[in-house]
Amino acid sequence: MNWTVQEGHFDSSLVTANGNKYMIGNGYLGYRGTLEEFGKEQLVAVTLAGLYDKAGDQWREPVNAPNGLFTRLTCNGQPLDVLDAELLAHIQELDIRSAIHKRETVYSISEGETLTFTAERFASADNLHLLAGRFTVRCTQDCRVVIDTGIDGEVWDINGPHLFSRLEQLKQNVLVSSAITGELGITVAVAETAVFSFGEQQMDTPGTMRRISFDALAGKTYEWFKYAAVYTGHDVSEPEAEAEMAARAAEQLGYAGLLETHRQLWEERWSRSDVVIEGDDAAQFALRYSIYQLLIIAPSESEKVSIPARGLSGQVYKGAVFWDTEMFMLPFFLHSDPRVARNLMMYRIHTLNGARRKAAEYGFLGAFYAWESQDTGDDACTLFNVNDVFTGRPMRTYFRDKQVHISADVVHGIWQYVQFTGDDSLLADGGAEVIWECARFFYSYAYYNPVKQRYEILDVTGPDEYHERVNNNAFTNALIKETLDIALRTAELLRQKHPSLYQELSEQFSGGPFLTEVKVMLEHLYVPQPDPDSLIIEQFDRYFSLEEVALADLKSRVLNKQEYWGGGNGLATTTTILKQADVVLMLNLFKHSFTKEVKQANWEFYEPRTEHGSSLSPCIYALVAADIGSPDWGYPYFMRTATVDLTGESKQYVGDFISAAHILRRTAGHGWPRCLASRA
Ligand code: BGC
Repeated sequence: MNWTVQEGHFDSSLVTANGNKYMIGNGYLGYRGTLEEFGKEQLVAVTLAGLYDKAGDQWREPVNAPNGLFTRLTCNGQPLDVLDAELLAHIQELDIRSAIHKRETVYSISEGETLTFTAERFASADNLHLLAGRFTVRCTQDCRVVIDTGIDGEVWDINGPHLFSRLEQLKQNVLVSSAITGELGITVAVAETAVFSFGEQQMDTPGTMRRISFDALAGKTYEWFKYAAVYTGHDVSEPEAEAEMAARAAEQLGYAGLLETHRQLWEERWSRSDVVIEGDDAAQFALRYSIYQLLIIAPSESEKVSIPARGLSGQVYKGAVFWDTEMFMLPFFLHSDPRVARNLMMYRIHTLNGARRKAAEYGFLGAFYAWESQDTGDDACTLFNVNDVFTGRPMRTYFRDKQVHISADVVHGIWQYVQFTGDDSLLADGGAEVIWECARFFYSYAYYNPVKQRYEILDVTGPDEYHERVNNNAFTNALIKETLDIALRTAELLRQKHPSLYQELSEQFSGGPFLTEVKVMLEHLYVPQPDPDSLIIEQFDRYFSLEEVALADLKSRVLNKQEYWGGGNGLATTTTILKQADVVLMLNLFKHSFTKEVKQANWEFYEPRTEHGSSLSPCIYALVAADIGSPDWGYPYFMRTATVDLTGESKQYVGDFISAAHILRRTAGHGWPRCLASRA
């Protein structure tokens, strides 16, 4: 069975896309799938999880560390760079079984003579601070080869620069480059060591490059190794010393030993995470590749970071954590690695104060989680997220202010974890407080309608971002109801299992509103239900009165490919066309509360009206199709989901904060094996 993604030739137009596709990582750092000689123009990035910086008044974004694996060759004075040199062959490869990136390039160095350069690298699954590489050169004719290698401090940034006061040191063959971030003054240190058994070495002093020159003999293979370690002031008090030590220790252990341990850890990982599909190699490969994407970004050793919407593929989407994590990624980790699932939920516990600040900012009680969360939990989402292509002006969007479901998504995640693992220590470790603060937020957000005698949730944006500021979004109301219910259950559980903690916390909340109010609101909260005749659940109040237009017809009204369909004036705003699964997502989350008939009726109703403008959408249509026993409806949606990172296909809007870079999309939910098994 194939575990390799491969590019059989070099295509300069694919440099950015391949940077995403061939990425390696270990949850601490992500290393884009760029080639050894590339620099910041080719978007090389060593993106660090959880370390953010703000330059000037631009968006805060994750920090990219200098590239300790940088390597460029010259042969007889001629630079060997895939972008300019004459290539006879080129292969770029990613082994997703062991998370190893490889390239092999055959350069023409004179008439009929060649030089072959190979490079292999991995981001250690054992020591998360470590990158290791093995390189070879072999030529068919004697020639003079020069290798420039070291730490490339010219870092790619979208909103940088972020690293200042750079200090470059050479410490007995270890190059150490350190700098501090502009906003918070956090040190980022990279140490590099290279092991050559040939050639003459010259060092830049001060500098971060070494030059190895030698006369290469035809037919002989020259091999060398590099180890680069990254530490920041978030990790340790002396990042430079720690990085230097780690690079030295890696050199001592040697490449083969490091690789062996790394491979074993990946074997172990796959033994917990693999999903086998019989009889469909394409589906099998795509699913494994999607799982790989999740494994390389999973925070296995830290509960202070979560998974950004675009993983560690660079600074796109501000490195921000969205609801994507709880609603779309968490299920995978619950099934395969509950420790990671716990870390993800602990991140929300650690960022509770940011959520409290946001609630207070809007005049609400409790915790209103950030739509785009970074290190502190304060909202990184701006009020203007998209540009109007016609006027060039930024458009006011209400993602930050009105997607209140985020707090319910967090509660849903915590409860899923507790239910699934039986580990209720998460509640005692702060989970209960989060749940209750979110319930209090919703209590303060809701309106009581005295005529209808019910609580309503007005002025929100549901998952479908094309319809902003709507009333009683079915998804949002259903999740709020769940939050209230969980708040009461949590109280019950704590009362029984952790009575003294229960006592302490209930005193903290004794000023109210607390459980009494939550209970009343739960009993009287309005949640849109299926229509008795059509079985359709209206997405929000008066959705049915919007213009009915076929998706294809709406598309024919598009004047500019990049125009935004939502907002005040968007093409979809006044129609029933939705951006992404909304009611159907609710049916998936609460699959046991709805009959098959209801699920089917709503799938059939909403499916033609859904644009799938977010990759969080096709996966849900696939899951619900499988759930209602129609895997043939689901299969194309499944394949679209599972191949999205391989094809790099996704929608972009002008001025959207995703920049020009292709983005990683990943959504893995369980249910696929069942879906495909019933198809077979
Ligand atoms: C989607 C959101 C999602 C965000 C980050 C947007 O396009 O509409 O639901 O959270 O992307 O993935």
